[in-house]
Amino acid sequence: MQGGGLMQPPEPLVLATRNAHKTREIRDMLGAAFEVSDANDHPDFPEIEETGSTFLENARLKALGISRRTGGWVLSDDSGLEVDALGGAPGVWSSSYGGVEGDHARNNARLLREMVGRADRSARFRCTMVLARDGVETANFTGTVEGRLLEEPEGDGGFGYDPLFVPDGYDSSFASLPAEVKNRLSHRARALERVVDYLRRTAVSGKDCG
Ligand code: IMP
Repeated sequence: MQGGGLMQPPEPLVLATRNAHKTREIRDMLGAAFEVSDANDHPDFPEIEETGSTFLENARLKALGISRRTGGWVLSDDSGLEVDALGGAPGVWSSSYGGVEGDHARNNARLLREMVGRADRSARFRCTMVLARDGVETANFTGTVEGRLLEEPEGDGGFGYDPLFVPDGYDSSFASLPAEVKNRLSHRARALERVVDYLRRTAVSGKDCG
């Protein structure tokens, strides 16, 4: 979007994450109107415990926890896999489903065990993002991608549950599809599109958003 020609300094936007991959993705999508940093650039920021029982609660905890410590925009996200036959599990417990936080192999192994004999293999990834400013939530956004679970892992790309998840309209798992395809379809991309749209309309009207 082109602005009105007035050059203004970029708005600071802090991401409540230490995941450099997410930071790069979000920086690329937001363009030049925002000066994006993340929790790695602010060693004094607190570690926020994700004690919520929904993605929104966890994303709020992170955004507000950081926003109380810094000015400007703060953006957080929380995401995971919801499986219909398991009543929405693993949901907010996606990263520790197999018993060890962040152990994707164990998480996938448990998921396959839980799915044995189940005919309904429908599932979705969900990502909720919260924008905050001066310690107050400004807006929240959700993106989902629907799909189905395989009976065994397929592909080497991606991370987490990607080897077991085939998005609707495709025959291959997220781990075997090209990264550009996943990054276009993903729950995070869809939530982020909404954030970018909101920020462009409300935060930077009159600026060149790249
Ligand atoms: P977080 O939002 O980065 O904390 O993600 C929580 C957990 O959800 C991850 O550890 C993964 O198990 C799962 N997850 C979230 N996004 C994806 C994805 O794009 N692919 C595969 N697994 C994901």
